[in-house]
Amino acid sequence: MPRQLFVTTALPYANGNFHIGHIMEYIQADIWVRHQRMRGTAVDFVCADDTHGAPIMIAAEKAGLTPQQFVANIAAGRKPYLDGFHIGFDNWHSTDAPENHELARQIYRDLRDNKDGSLIESRTIEQFFDPDKGMFLPDRFIKGECPKCHAKDQYGDNCEQCGAVYAPTDLINPYSALSGAKPELRNSVHFFFKLSDPRCVGFLQQWTQDGKLQPEVANKIKEWFTVRSNPDGSSSEGLGDWDISRDAPYFGIEIPDAPGKYFYVWLDAPIGYLASLKNLLGQRGQDYDAYMANPALEQYHFIGKDIVTFHTLFFPACLHFSGRKTPDNIFVHGFLTVNNGEKMSKSRGTGLDPLKYLSLGMNPEWLRYYLAAKLSARNEDIDFNADDFMARVNSDLIGKYINIASRAAGFISKRFGGQLGEVSEDGAALLHQLRSEVGAMEQLYEARDYAKALRETMLLADKVNAYVDANKPWDLAKKPDQEARLQDVCTVCIKAFRILTCYLKPVLPALATQVEAFLNIEPLSYANIAQPMPAGHVIDTYQHLMQRVDIKQLEALFEAPEPAAAAQEIAHPGGEAIAPTIGIDDFSKIDLRIAKIVNCQAVAGSTKLLQLTLDVGELDETGEPRLRNVFSGIASMYKPEDLAGKLTVMVANLAPRKMKFGLSEGMVLAASHANEKAQPGIYVLEPFAGAQPGMRVH
Ligand code: 2FM
Ligand code: ZN
Repeated sequence: MPRQLFVTTALPYANGNFHIGHIMEYIQADIWVRHQRMRGTAVDFVCADDTHGAPIMIAAEKAGLTPQQFVANIAAGRKPYLDGFHIGFDNWHSTDAPENHELARQIYRDLRDNKDGSLIESRTIEQFFDPDKGMFLPDRFIKGECPKCHAKDQYGDNCEQCGAVYAPTDLINPYSALSGAKPELRNSVHFFFKLSDPRCVGFLQQWTQDGKLQPEVANKIKEWFTVRSNPDGSSSEGLGDWDISRDAPYFGIEIPDAPGKYFYVWLDAPIGYLASLKNLLGQRGQDYDAYMANPALEQYHFIGKDIVTFHTLFFPACLHFSGRKTPDNIFVHGFLTVNNGEKMSKSRGTGLDPLKYLSLGMNPEWLRYYLAAKLSARNEDIDFNADDFMARVNSDLIGKYINIASRAAGFISKRFGGQLGEVSEDGAALLHQLRSEVGAMEQLYEARDYAKALRETMLLADKVNAYVDANKPWDLAKKPDQEARLQDVCTVCIKAFRILTCYLKPVLPALATQVEAFLNIEPLSYANIAQPMPAGHVIDTYQHLMQRVDIKQLEALFEAPEPAAAAQEIAHPGGEAIAPTIGIDDFSKIDLRIAKIVNCQAVAGSTKLLQLTLDVGELDETGEPRLRNVFSGIASMYKPEDLAGKLTVMVANLAPRKMKFGLSEGMVLAASHANEKAQPGIYVLEPFAGAQPGMRVH
């Protein structure tokens, strides 16, 4: 039965752009997928945005957007990264899509209605509630004084000062990080997945310890079956039940038969893998259930070491006890640091900005090659080091591999019309040696030991370069009686280059495509490695395949970014960048009203100001119209009679300001360039017909 693979990377939170840590994981998985396809294995490789949860809901609110709009904006920014680094997902979906709502709810029902006894239980728990916001607070939105070291403003789960771990209820003087309000303890019914049920424990002990997981990962998991650390720093025995519900308001999937209760984001996030696959199959008109029922289907998830519990305990248990297929393996990688720096944090992602890398014209395949050269199957941290990056790309990739083609191809095209020649015994032996490594290469990629695959490939490249140095084609070219030998040696080089390109193809897909075109050959695969390019085969003229890394590019990459605003100001027609995003709450604090300019006059002693008398529909205590006095710096543009009688817009709730000429009770709206000297002109706003004095501007 032919293999069918379903492969994913972790779903990124839809609250920010990708950082280099995401790109590393995607490259790691993409290499494996390309390798599988080179073997002829069918693969579906999918991902999606992880959209739910309180942090995204709150970020959306701050930005004045609905959560749906907010995550759609993030999704719209994904493509340049993925295309830019040749990351070939077959589908990019969203955990807020209908497929995920349906699947998550169905999996929940199946767990609840498990025929051997429900695996869902409801319990009343006590939790902090923000009375101002009207919502229960996640731990990270509760702050207060550390109960141990008394540091102020510490998070609800642990102290950044002394490292103490505690429950939010242990904080001294807790407050809501959202509103500043003092949180109240309130009861709420939550749903739990019964991970402590003996059926779950038995299943997971087997599932995690049957040899499929990386040994270091399996060993770590083993500890969780005996001890577990509690939020308050104490420890308990064995697996604890998992709280899978959150109360409204929450951006998530509503729990069946439980109005106002939503799945905790981590319940529906991994189900998003299946939802993305289902969506892809739908696009192709394939049946999801039939696909999942295929006994030859293998399911793999690439993830980082920080989310192992979710993928090796909760997710497989939810799938198994809802009667579904479980993953065949979870491939765990370590963190990426940059220049020995801090861990690439999810929220900050400092160090190496992937889009900046691309915008500097740096070749994406340099990064793919460099990361692959550091990645093994082990769950280990790796470091991006700028000097090491330059050395590996320039000396190995260009110096050892690309140079083989550039040294030989010129002679083939100039001296032999692009035709390859016969190969004599020494060259044939070398090529045989190179080709005979194909099985080993395939196995190294299969085992995700890319570092070793590339090391081995470079050792083979060394052998080819030694052959070149021994035969000195540049000398042969000077000797008329050595024509045939020159063609022989250069043919060996080109054939060797073809084999090495095959071994690098999972890592360097774009380069491999260029090489296939240059050599006039079929797409390279492990199976066609032995296919000869017979004598007489014509290759194209050599175009330089890859530049060297320039130190200046690396310097620019790690240069502190220019303040974005400064760069934009120059470009922006208004002379200044758009101000930082505010929420609708901020905007609605400003009370803008239609004002009638009932009178307008010059100000004695000022060439800049006009004095406006404005009616915004207010009445004083006696019931008479209350008029406002406003000074405005618009005299350079308007004469009093231009404005009198017209309507405009004013900020009606601006604190009155004492000026040299009197009290100014508000401000009229007018447009101008940020640099008034360079672009003079100030233009008072006037509403469309129909607006009445006193109407609010929204
Ligand atoms: O840790 C994270 O970034 C999560 N968004 C990963 C989710 S992976 C899967 F479960 F969706
Ligand atoms: Zn402390």
